[in-house]
Amino acid sequence: MASVYQSMQTAELDALIEQLEEEASEVRARGLKLDMARGKPSVEQTDLSRPMLDVLNSSSVLQDEGVPADNYGVPDGLPSARKLAAELLGVNADQVIVNGSSSLNLMHDVVVNAYTKGIAGCDPWCRQGTVKFLCPSPGYDRHFAVTARYGIENVPIAMLSDGPNMDEVERLVETDASVKGIWCVPKYANPTGITYSDEVVRRFASLKPAARDFRIFWDNAYVVHDLYDEGDKLLNIFDAIAEAGTANLVYEFSSTAKITFPSSGMAFVTASADDIAEIRSAFSIERVSPEKLSQLAHVGFLHDVAGVRAHMAKHAQILRPRFELVQNKLSVGLGDLGIATWTNPRGGYFVSFDGPCGSAKRIVALMQELGVTLTGAGATWPGGNDPQDSNIRIAPTFPSLENLGNALDVFVLAVKLVAARIERESR
Ligand SMILES: Cc1ncc(COP(=O)(O)O)c(C=O)c1O
Repeated sequence: MASVYQSMQTAELDALIEQLEEEASEVRARGLKLDMARGKPSVEQTDLSRPMLDVLNSSSVLQDEGVPADNYGVPDGLPSARKLAAELLGVNADQVIVNGSSSLNLMHDVVVNAYTKGIAGCDPWCRQGTVKFLCPSPGYDRHFAVTARYGIENVPIAMLSDGPNMDEVERLVETDASVKGIWCVPKYANPTGITYSDEVVRRFASLKPAARDFRIFWDNAYVVHDLYDEGDKLLNIFDAIAEAGTANLVYEFSSTAKITFPSSGMAFVTASADDIAEIRSAFSIERVSPEKLSQLAHVGFLHDVAGVRAHMAKHAQILRPRFELVQNKLSVGLGDLGIATWTNPRGGYFVSFDGPCGSAKRIVALMQELGVTLTGAGATWPGGNDPQDSNIRIAPTFPSLENLGNALDVFVLAVKLVAARIERESR
């Protein structure tokens, strides 16, 4: 992109750098300690779910539709919890397992099952030589860490404005049998905040993988996390699969981590009848039975999809001003300079920011010096390797509005200074 800095005379650019360095020294002297690193809810948000803690007490009936919640058993989760999860994802409750408090944990276990035991009648991935996963990038660092941990080769795929580059996905999935999976966050993607278009979802649903044991890991973490009354609409992948006549293609995951309490929510997975039977069988060895008291409390608190939506509207009220502040500060501070672009999501937890080539590591390091912690540069790429070194994930949810505003002011300064220095060095 053509930047204002490129058109400056060198003397003018030097004067600007000197002025920005002075401003940075003033910020450094303030000894700030701010954090815009991880996408977690603010205290105000987790407070919204405190009443859930009063749903159960020592006199509560610990039963759900005649099923005991206070003992072992019911490995797929309580009937009402499965119903709620199924409603949220728009699938059949028979094909949902609600288990554990972390969807990432379920994804990990499903990968490990395929890696150690094999799926769909195929050899375990660990005995198939090179095994690859496609990683739309920028993406979620913890996804990439799961597959990297087992020596699976993470292959970056470009993220476009409507989803991953499907020409690349189709070419690799349909011609290379060593490609066993793809990580997807189809709604309000982490970190770009985009939602996959209907066409992208249909192309996923129509994939004809070269490997019988290829699966799409459809992490619908932000399924109800809209900032506005009118949220992005994501086509239901299982409806698209039914239309396409394909089968056994998708594992879909989600959780209430960012609806109620991160690390104490309820996590769930759904898949085709064959696939969910395989997952059920693996889980039956790994787990005795799920956290049914938590499930009972969740259903007693949230009730149904309408209850979830009403609760999420309260989250949105807290989050909207934060996301709008990000847009405002970045537009006012950087909008006319031609040195950066950023996304403007209508939901989810992140804004994805791109500065000039070779700037991200320097911006993050300078921010740290100035007292603001950001997600590590490169974290959004497999292996931490952003080929352009340009992408930074902004996580606006946790800091107070005041702290967020201060952190963004420092960010704008850091971006300008690094971009100006890069331009100067190029001369
Ligand atoms: C895309 C995505 N999936 C999963 C998670 C983690 O969810 P859980 O707490 O259910 O493991 C996160 C958390 O940031 C996320 O961004």
